[in-house]
Amino acid sequence: MRVPLIVDVDTGIDDSLALLYLLSSPEAEILSIASTAGNVPVNQVAANNLAWLDLCGAGDIEVTLGAQAPLVAPLMTTEDTHGPQGIGYAELPVSRRPLSARDAATAWVEIVRGRPGEVTGLVTGPLTNLANAIRIDPELPRLLKRLVLMGGAFEHPGNTTPTSEWNIAVDPEAASEVFAAFSVVPQDRLPIVCPLDITETIEMYPDHIARLAERAGSIPRELIAERDSSATRSTASNPLVRHFSDAVRFYMEFHRDHDQGFLAHMHDPFAAAVALNPDIATYRLATVDVELNGTLTRGTTVADRRGMWGRPHNAAIATTTDPAAFFDDLIERVGALAARL
Ligand code: BDR
Ligand code: CA
Repeated sequence: MRVPLIVDVDTGIDDSLALLYLLSSPEAEILSIASTAGNVPVNQVAANNLAWLDLCGAGDIEVTLGAQAPLVAPLMTTEDTHGPQGIGYAELPVSRRPLSARDAATAWVEIVRGRPGEVTGLVTGPLTNLANAIRIDPELPRLLKRLVLMGGAFEHPGNTTPTSEWNIAVDPEAASEVFAAFSVVPQDRLPIVCPLDITETIEMYPDHIARLAERAGSIPRELIAERDSSATRSTASNPLVRHFSDAVRFYMEFHRDHDQGFLAHMHDPFAAAVALNPDIATYRLATVDVELNGTLTRGTTVADRRGMWGRPHNAAIATTTDPAAFFDDLIERVGALAARL
């Protein structure tokens, strides 16, 4: 069964792998890729999206540009985490593919309206584009088949402030509007929320890259070592392996420098896998809202699991998964795509 998708990203190293995962998955029918300002400014996000499509030899897939900034807050970006261009140390050839003539919010509305009840929306960046789309067409939550998003932190520390997660913290107003808008959908179509609680269990290690390279038939053996100088660049024969390895080396160094070990949390690829197959996780239903005013807690996601607010559920929060099985699947798919290039 094919899964028609709108993918809304702030590419980003882990967004990049989410795209590679989807491009390598025969069941993913990518209808459009929306670019959101987040990890890096939106024009750079769009350039990264187009460049990855080139590198994967993808057919004509629409890439749209979203808003330059969040709904209310000034834009913050995080080149510290994702590198000067959002793709770590990778330097992808500049794509000649054109950007779509329509903007991201318009594409969301037109595509979902054109296939009511069929489209899954996957958001792995701030929710600005989707909030703008819902402002244009408030029926959107009812017309989507399902929304899957990476965002939030519940019983887990934040990664942007002590209690907030990046995608929500960049545009808290957008996230709040989206969660409110989805309180009208039936229980079996509640948005799937993949928070840090689960995505920080998706730890990519150098050995995963070595296995991916081997599956791709890339030579020599791909070894990212913690002791390497950060000027080290991949010499992999396979271009996808080479570029992704350079991207992820930066991400592993970032995690190491923040006392998380020489690894990289692959938040967004996990959300992409959930969008194709929600059965890889277990869920807990809740009513989720976003703190917009706290002096210390702005951008924090709050989950009401006991009905204390008297408001309907608006989220199925992913709680457990099998990370090893996730990586086996990802390595097989992305490695096979790389082998075909
Ligand atoms: C999220 O923030 C971004 O930096 C990542 O791409 C991911 O979507 C994790 O908090
Ligand atoms: Ca992201």
